[in-house]
Amino acid sequence: MDYTAPTLIPLDQVEPAMIEQVLDRAFGPDRHGRTAYKVREGTDWLPALSFAALDEDDMLVGTIQVWPVALEDEDGKQHPMLMVGPVAVIPERQREGYGQALMLAMLAALDERAPLPQVLIGDADYYGRFFGFSDAPTGGWTLPGPWDPGRLLVRAVNPAILPAKGTLGPWRSHLANSG
Ligand SMILES: CC(C)(COP(=O)(O)OP(=O)(O)OC[C@H]1O[C@@H](n2cnc3c(N)ncnc32)[C@H](O)[C@@H]1OP(=O)(O)O)[C@@H](O)C(=O)NCCC(=O)NCCS
Repeated sequence: MDYTAPTLIPLDQVEPAMIEQVLDRAFGPDRHGRTAYKVREGTDWLPALSFAALDEDDMLVGTIQVWPVALEDEDGKQHPMLMVGPVAVIPERQREGYGQALMLAMLAALDERAPLPQVLIGDADYYGRFFGFSDAPTGGWTLPGPWDPGRLLVRAVNPAILPAKGTLGPWRSHLANSG
């Protein structure tokens, strides 16, 4: 399907309360208990990789946020990664290309010389089909809460170098109080 290209702006140009409204409408107000929130707990989203989508009337219809997380391996070593999400489009504007536009903007903003692996919890039918995310490398990973293994997806230049086992959590040097 052909979509009209939406207007994308950096997310830090949007009022925080408006971002929360989009997330509530896409995921429901009980979203805060989700495991993804625990993985990135205490970190702030990365302004250079987080975007908002506006419609033809400059109304906010979607957002994407990216967070600094790490996979801690069995030796306690942290392997930095980018946690993608929520990717959210308000219900009445879904399936018009906004989600893909937000994802493509984020992927284009990665430093192609050395992009960190990107991880998310989401539908493989969407993130695998359009962007090459896969659950294959994540079978031995654990999260700080319940998760569906088929929805823990990663995208990396060289998946073979990802640790087979580890626990996902905040990237310690990015914690708000780590100095
Ligand atoms: C999932 C979401 C971000 C997709 O964004 P979107 O703007 O609605 O979708 P797009 O217009 O970019 O893509 C449309 C295509 O993706 C497909 N698609 C959309 N959501 C899908 C899903 N959850 N699973 C599989 N395919 C999906 C559509 O069928 C369509 O395919 P087609 O072109 O062959 O018809 C959006 O629907 C949303 O916010 N959903 C609620 C929150 C959510 O589940 N977020 C994902 C977890 S982080």
